[in-house]
Amino acid sequence: MAESSTTESRARFGKRHILYDASLIEHPEVGLFAIDNLKSQTGQHALAAGRGHAVFFEHQNQALVLKHYRRGGQIAAVLGDRYLGRNCERSRAFREWRLLQAMCQLRLPVPVPVAASCSPQGLFHRADLVTQQIHDVIPLAEHLLEKPCTHQTWRVIGRCIRRFHDASVYHADLNARNILINAEFGRVFLVDFDKGAFRHLGESWKAANLARLQRSLFKFKSFNPYFNFGRDDWNALLEGYKGDD
Ligand SMILES: Nc1ncnc2c1ncn2[C@@H]1O[C@H](COP(=O)(O)OP(=O)(O)O)[C@@H](O)[C@H]1O
Ligand SMILES: [Mg+2]
Repeated sequence: MAESSTTESRARFGKRHILYDASLIEHPEVGLFAIDNLKSQTGQHALAAGRGHAVFFEHQNQALVLKHYRRGGQIAAVLGDRYLGRNCERSRAFREWRLLQAMCQLRLPVPVPVAASCSPQGLFHRADLVTQQIHDVIPLAEHLLEKPCTHQTWRVIGRCIRRFHDASVYHADLNARNILINAEFGRVFLVDFDKGAFRHLGESWKAANLARLQRSLFKFKSFNPYFNFGRDDWNALLEGYKGDD
């Protein structure tokens, strides 16, 4: 089954457990996950792009992105970046890394996973994920703040989502920030598979994925009337989703 990964290597530094792809990095180093150092080195991070504050950096001549997992909502005030449990196999980082690997093997347009880290401490663990940077894309939400997408681009987005659904991939947080696009070349990627999974049972989750995305787009529109999204755009996305090609 495509869900098993074939290029998984492991390393350990003290309490930190690392999964990595040895064909992409020779030796995973602790520095790969040192978010504060990386931020000050590069001076740039995707603050606007999500609560996890992805950091873009260079390592062994590769452009990489580090995501440090953080809690959302009210629990963030209590737990911050700590997640319950000491079992790294169950950590979000290891799960997302493996799901990304499986999706890459299926040639789905997702970031290539490089390394995942999990550091148990007490009853909790902290976790990070490093992926290869996808170049020349911006989040759909940012694009729409500046300009509209053509209906052709909306159809490409719909078709892209359909490819994931046909491969039984559930995205737990399909919103306009987790879709990266290059409108000029009609390229679309999905990111942020935290809590995503292969789902072989039922169909209702597919409609739920789409409904979530639609809510996200209308929410952006409600905050900013100049946000370039309307019902026709959604219909074009659905055309792409339903299309047979
Ligand atoms: N591999 C990648 N290539 C390019 N941009 C990325 C990549 N991974 C994440 N990003 C950017 O960083 C943002 C935050 O990453 P994401 O995985 O969505 O985490 P979260 O939303 O939990 O912070 C994304 O919305 C996207 O803009
Ligand atoms: Mg995100």
